[in-house]
Amino acid sequence: MNFLHPITPDRPWLAPLAGYSDLPFRLLCRTQGCAVAVTEMISAKGLIYGSPGTRELLLTCRQDDPLVVQLFGAEESFLLASIAQLRQSGFRYFDLNCGCSVRKVVRTGSGAALLKDPGHLLRLAKSLVQAVEPGCMGFKIRLGWSHDQPVYLRIGQELDQSGAGWITMHPRYATQGFTGHADWKHLALLKTKVGFPVVASGDLFHAEDGIRCIEQTGVDGLMFARGALNDPGIFKRYLLARQGQPLVSKKPHEMLAMVRKLCGLYTEHGMDRLGILKMRTLVPRLFKGIPGTKELRREIVFCKSWEDVLCALQACPVSTSL
Ligand SMILES: Cc1cc2nc3c(=O)[nH]c(=O)nc-3n(C[C@H](O)[C@H](O)[C@H](O)COP(=O)(O)O)c2cc1C
Repeated sequence: MNFLHPITPDRPWLAPLAGYSDLPFRLLCRTQGCAVAVTEMISAKGLIYGSPGTRELLLTCRQDDPLVVQLFGAEESFLLASIAQLRQSGFRYFDLNCGCSVRKVVRTGSGAALLKDPGHLLRLAKSLVQAVEPGCMGFKIRLGWSHDQPVYLRIGQELDQSGAGWITMHPRYATQGFTGHADWKHLALLKTKVGFPVVASGDLFHAEDGIRCIEQTGVDGLMFARGALNDPGIFKRYLLARQGQPLVSKKPHEMLAMVRKLCGLYTEHGMDRLGILKMRTLVPRLFKGIPGTKELRREIVFCKSWEDVLCALQACPVSTSL
């Protein structure tokens, strides 16, 4: 059985999110209806050389399934060796990052830099597809490197022919970073040109964005990224909206329950030090826009222990009014 498929609008994914889509966050999203999750991007070279921190990025457990491991790299030898090593450890689904525009990644020829040379990317893709089980290798792209070079249709069509399992597209150019807007009309066009599943990413901030994106583009599936960081409950809200139920926005008590759950998950998986650091960036996102939480968002940044985190939560008026 291939548990990643079918790729449908009713099985929303959690996007790869460097610094965030770790095991506890993925498990939290899964409790909210996330069907498939993707790891943070992992350097193929780093994996082979045993770079510090790489092992933590690969922490998983039985409930964290199906899980896609996202790799970045530009050299076939390292990517193939990584996949072989990961398959031996039991990982089954893989994605190649062809969209990251961060300088550190692009400088190595990886991420969105691969879009500058579609020939190289497509040769790489052919061997990666052959290195995994059928349908288990995906590619995450942008429209191209820059406005004068849209390459997504050529890449999409050739990946489809190569036997790739799916394509994810964030419809911005690499030079845009996160500026401007994700132009979903390119997703609609790509969908008409390929036969394999297309997964949408880009400006899916709220459940209603997901609904509109599916309606406007006809894509097979979608993944929530910043939308999930601001509200892991986006999966549940989106799925309820798919069933025609009225949309409800995030509620303070829900966010509190999620933070508490997340604290527990970090501890349970032996990730306390990392978990406390994550709270400093996640809590302000989760409570953004919720009245009465300004002090909590300020305080959390200074937390050094779980005790500090729990104290800050307890002192929040939202908490005391429950
Ligand atoms: C903090 C952060 C980390 C990200 N890390 C990755 C990554 O590791 N790999 C990747 O392919 N995309 C990464 N992305 C891009 C997202 O997966 C997604 O494609 C992008 O944010 C657009 O979706 P959104 O507008 O709905 O957030 C990251 C985005 C953010 C905001």
